[in-house]
Amino acid sequence: MADIDRRPEADKPHVLIVYYSFSRQTAHVAATMGHRLRERGCEVSEAPLEFTDAHYGKRFASRPMRWPIVKIVSMLPAQIRRRCGDITIPEAAARGEYDLVVVGSPTWWLTTCMPVRSYLHHGAATRALASTPFATFTTSRRYYRGNLNTMRELGIENGGVFVDSTRFVAGGNQVMSMWSWLAFMRHDVERSRSFGVRMPKPNLKVDYERQATAFIDRVAESLSFPSPLAAADPRGA
Ligand SMILES: Cc1cc2nc3c(=O)[nH]c(=O)nc-3n(C[C@H](O)[C@H](O)[C@H](O)COP(=O)(O)O)c2cc1C
Repeated sequence: MADIDRRPEADKPHVLIVYYSFSRQTAHVAATMGHRLRERGCEVSEAPLEFTDAHYGKRFASRPMRWPIVKIVSMLPAQIRRRCGDITIPEAAARGEYDLVVVGSPTWWLTTCMPVRSYLHHGAATRALASTPFATFTTSRRYYRGNLNTMRELGIENGGVFVDSTRFVAGGNQVMSMWSWLAFMRHDVERSRSFGVRMPKPNLKVDYERQATAFIDRVAESLSFPSPLAAADPRGA
């Protein structure tokens, strides 16, 4: 697909993709959606949030994660209480006038991760979302509903106009996928075997790019953004 766009800047739909990602899964999905939107002639700002909280953020300061079980379980009380923490918000995610905002969050303990929740409670999110269509996506091993509901509710509270949502979940059964994921968190590489046992993929499924592209196409079409073909050749549009 051609990645050329000859449209004047002012005619391009402007899209913000704001997300948090520790182990890069949400970042991979955000990058795929960003790439597709650019193919469609959009001006895209990808804005990864940084989790700088002095108390909670340290656990997510580096990969691989030593003692992943301990660190993950230690987030449970704060996640249950829906606590917020300090984050650094990229400048692009603190201003408005977008035609679409996409918000992506991993699921942490059945709900939106602390950094994305903190963003959605910040004035920056109100500026980005006010009267603006928004879509959401989650990445998780399995659970996504509470996360999607929270992002939709907070987005609407910020004045956003909800368009659509999707989720990316891992494959495998509960036990094997958990085993595979913990091994990934500990080593920061996907392994197909552990102690001689075949592992399911710990994170995004192999077809996640197709899913991300189909989703963002659906969102773009519902907002009448240019098609990829029209973006590559505006005379034929
Ligand atoms: C603190 C923590 C809690 C998690 N809780 C859940 C959960 O309740 N349900 C689930 O399906 N996945 C859970 N996960 C897995 C993540 O949602 C999943 O690995 C996600 O893809 C990570 O996204 P990222 O790579 O962008 O950080 C949790 C991960 C962490 C770090």
